[in-house]
Amino acid sequence: MNTDERIRYLTSALENNHLCKSLQLYEEVGSTNDLLKKQAEAGAEEGCIVIADLQTHGRGRMGKDWLSMAGKGLYMSVLLRPGWPASDSMLTGIMTGVAVAKAFDQVGLSNVTLKWPNDVLVNNKKIAGILTETRIGGNFVDFIVIGIGVNLLYDEHELRLTVEQPATSCRMEGVNISCDDAAIKLLESLDEYYDLFQKGERNVFLDEWSARTVVAGK
Ligand code: BTN
Repeated sequence: MNTDERIRYLTSALENNHLCKSLQLYEEVGSTNDLLKKQAEAGAEEGCIVIADLQTHGRGRMGKDWLSMAGKGLYMSVLLRPGWPASDSMLTGIMTGVAVAKAFDQVGLSNVTLKWPNDVLVNNKKIAGILTETRIGGNFVDFIVIGIGVNLLYDEHELRLTVEQPATSCRMEGVNISCDDAAIKLLESLDEYYDLFQKGERNVFLDEWSARTVVAGK
């Protein structure tokens, strides 16, 4: 599929998704988070989604790089403007972690767990990471950019290049899923959990988060 066809495919699959308002697909960017943060600063609305096939400067937490080879992973950022009090922004990573884990269950991955703060593991190996970046204005959240990186097609050798902790990919775990289908599953799940958050039903994802969380080093 070319880019236009992929956009049509994604847009049609996400037609009833309340969160997803506009979708941008790039062959190559520096970092989807950096690009979306710039757009947010320029006034982009909630629900802008940026997906890239390749990142030249994919960023992880704590200033680390995020392995972002062409077509081997999902590199996606989502813009929220929830209007929450600043303190609620701390829960964004938890909400997203649970949403990603639930989407992974649905695509057939087993033993999906979460490790504080934002690692998603399958069989105790890291398969996805979440980087949330928040701008606060006064006592309220101005915007949050949620970056999600998922290892889709990497093999063991490629993952050994940069990842410090044991890592895996969907393919290595026996699940073959395209970048676009992974994005659709994740956005459906994120839509559901964001809706719960907005309705004040935080216990649902806080309970799920506790049930799935493994202690670091175990
Ligand atoms: C981590 O586990 O350290 C977080 C990794 C987050 C990676 C994603 S890929 C899409 C988005 N753009 C980035 O530059 N980083 C996030």
